[in-house]
Amino acid sequence: MNTTSRESVPRETFSRRSVFILAAIGSAIGLGNIWRFPYVSYTNGGGAFLIPYVVALMTAGIPLLLMEYGLGHKFRGSGPLAFRRLHKRGEFAGWFQVGIAFLIALYYPVIIAWALRYAIYSFGQEWGSDPAAFFNNHFLQEASGFSVDLVAQVALPMLVVWGIIVLVVVLGVENGIGRLNRFFVPLLVILFGALVIRALFLPGAAQGLEVFFTPDWEALRHGGVWIAAYGQIFFSLNVGFAVMITYSSYLKRKTNLVGSGYVVAFSNASFEALAGIGVFATLGFLATSTGQSVSEVAGGGIGLAFIAFPTIISTMPGGTIFGVIFFTCLTIAGLTSEISVVEVCISAIRDEFGLARWAATIAVIVPLLVGSMLLFPTTTGSHTLDIFDKFVCSIGIVSAAIIAMLVISWVLRALPALSTHLNAVSSRHVGFLWKLCVAVVTPAILLTILGTEIHSIVTGGYGDYPTWSLLAFGWIPILIVLIGAIVFTLMPWSSSTPLEELSLPKPTLNSTPDSGSQILSTEPPSPPENEAQ
Ligand code: ALA
Repeated sequence: MNTTSRESVPRETFSRRSVFILAAIGSAIGLGNIWRFPYVSYTNGGGAFLIPYVVALMTAGIPLLLMEYGLGHKFRGSGPLAFRRLHKRGEFAGWFQVGIAFLIALYYPVIIAWALRYAIYSFGQEWGSDPAAFFNNHFLQEASGFSVDLVAQVALPMLVVWGIIVLVVVLGVENGIGRLNRFFVPLLVILFGALVIRALFLPGAAQGLEVFFTPDWEALRHGGVWIAAYGQIFFSLNVGFAVMITYSSYLKRKTNLVGSGYVVAFSNASFEALAGIGVFATLGFLATSTGQSVSEVAGGGIGLAFIAFPTIISTMPGGTIFGVIFFTCLTIAGLTSEISVVEVCISAIRDEFGLARWAATIAVIVPLLVGSMLLFPTTTGSHTLDIFDKFVCSIGIVSAAIIAMLVISWVLRALPALSTHLNAVSSRHVGFLWKLCVAVVTPAILLTILGTEIHSIVTGGYGDYPTWSLLAFGWIPILIVLIGAIVFTLMPWSSSTPLEELSLPKPTLNSTPDSGSQILSTEPPSPPENEAQ
């Protein structure tokens, strides 16, 4: 099999596997771990949430992560190029993932901007005695309906955030992304570790942890809890939106892929658990000192970090430094993740149109910047954000993951080839169980929960939002991604991007292309006719 012969422009690479692992961890550990996981787990059964979470990690998160590593590394391309090199019929799946990454890259920076602003507010504890009123009325200046009125204190840090993103991505894979993560990921672990240790020694910490870990077994009977767990795993581990395909395409040829995948997955899950412990220990302290219950102080979603934490910071001894570190951690975690998601789009555009990095950066950043500035740092931006986040995580990422798994397993029958590749370069191997998860178990679970979720939103709506806003900020963006994926699939590739060189292995004697069991066999299959271009 000829896998390297005709790449016209040498692909950028990370200098070492350790840099790739740090970048992949930096990408995985993000707002999802610190801001999202604690409230998602709390509102979905507390301690009992850990069960669907671990099931989702083992059956979907890790198998998909390894599939994306195999795809990106074997075919050395961005999402669409890797799928295209696998087979022409796969390309749409890659563009759909890039579209979902684009949506994430649109809304994610506004939360980083909040965190950055709050890191600065922490010095003077500027939220005063009523952090909730400060957050909603003064900081976000929340209004109802839809408006494009910019809120300066959100818009300005957001411009700073976009400035940093551009600076890093334009510097490239090793000099920008690699260097940033080599510095930021260890810093994040040290700072956040210190915070959690401090939190555990606060009076009332045990009470918070009890709430966090006390299982509500009844919750496991609700489909929504399982959807939340799968959505959280995908968002957090960055599977389903081509980040891991893109990053692994920047790896050198000989790299232990499976081992790296386990390191990244377990580092991310450990950090998530650490964040849950730190956040709930701190909430326990707040509950004890205000005489409320933990559930009263926990609040919902967005408020957990930006209302409860300022309250805590004002209450605890040494609160200022605690606050600065907490919001700095949130900013760092968010930046390293956002950069990876933007890189997914840049890499795809570079491959498709044969552009230089700076040109692709402009092509991607301009629409992202304009779109995100119009939609989110506005007086109605927090509602738009909530709807975006819900639809992207519960419907967008899950659909993209299902499409990728079905295309790879059943349309292109490429699982044996990918497992051969993963096993050829890795010290730990994937086998029948991995293929069973990717081809059968996970798609079946995801199709069920996706169906339930769509039914629930169509019949019951989401939150108190009017139907028009669910259409405008939920369904229509997903529809645009779908149409965009079709349009990009139909566009011709740049002549500087070779497509044909990475064909799958020749059929083996024992392959029977139409038999379902062959998909789970250990031999590489014969692909459907693999057109060269
Ligand atoms: N994986 C990133 C996060 O958890 C997107 O926030």
